[in-house]
Amino acid sequence: MASSKPSPDLRPARLNALGEFAASIAHEVKQPLAAVTLNAEACMKWLDHDPPRLDQARAALQVVLQASVAASAMVRSLHGMACQAEPERDWLIVDDVLRDVLQLLRGELRQHAISLGEEFTLGNYQLFADRVQLMQVVMNLLRNAIEALKDVHDRPRALALRSALVDDALRISVCDDGPGIPASLAARIFEPLFTTRPGGTGMGLAICQGIVQSHGGCIWSEAGLPHGAVFHLSFKEYTLWTPSRS
Ligand SMILES: Nc1ncnc2c1ncn2[C@@H]1O[C@H](COP(=O)(O)OP(=O)(O)OP(=O)(O)O)[C@@H](O)[C@H]1O
Ligand SMILES: [Mg+2]
Repeated sequence: MASSKPSPDLRPARLNALGEFAASIAHEVKQPLAAVTLNAEACMKWLDHDPPRLDQARAALQVVLQASVAASAMVRSLHGMACQAEPERDWLIVDDVLRDVLQLLRGELRQHAISLGEEFTLGNYQLFADRVQLMQVVMNLLRNAIEALKDVHDRPRALALRSALVDDALRISVCDDGPGIPASLAARIFEPLFTTRPGGTGMGLAICQGIVQSHGGCIWSEAGLPHGAVFHLSFKEYTLWTPSRS
């Protein structure tokens, strides 16, 4: 007689996949939600100001709106990845996408006294990518850098986001001067569910790697000098936007 129970062999794999999917959603939603909370609080503060600072309140509310749109887009995107739907790719001006991500994190950077270096040199270079997925990757790397920098108390906290053409590939780099990644753990950080952080899901870098590889790119980390960690993304397929192509 046919049984509706999954075979014992398939069950752990399926549970694993479901567990990873649930962890991915929890992970991706946590980030924009943090931006919503922070900026909604800031908005209240500006409204309570005497006289109310409507310009600042509006700016904070604008970030709340962007973050909630980003959260829904990320859930849709993860659902699409889980169903193996075709990603929605387009030619994107990379530097514009990086600026949009930073917009969501500025409140948090201020809150943790982290100085930000923005070194965008790509100008009109474009990548054929899914916008939401590219934002997810950069956001995850920046979030990890922020987490790492929270442990720094004896020097200024610094973070840099860079874009450049390097060795004929389009490169995005996130550099922090936090405690860095111990050499003994470096090989494991991209494994799903691997985490050293209390409360971490360990899905951030696994999601990043999956997205970057599906775009034909690569992602790797190296030690920062003299401190910290550097994460690079590199893509060999790119183009330069010119007005005649639009
Ligand atoms: N910038 C960094 N500096 C130091 N260690 C890092 C950095 N980025 C990642 N790591 C290490 O890699 C591990 C895996 O990172 P990943 O983003 O996958 O998960 P997580 O950050 O621990 O959890 P979550 O993303 O759910 O918050 C981290 O626990 C940490 O040990
Ligand atoms: Mg993380």
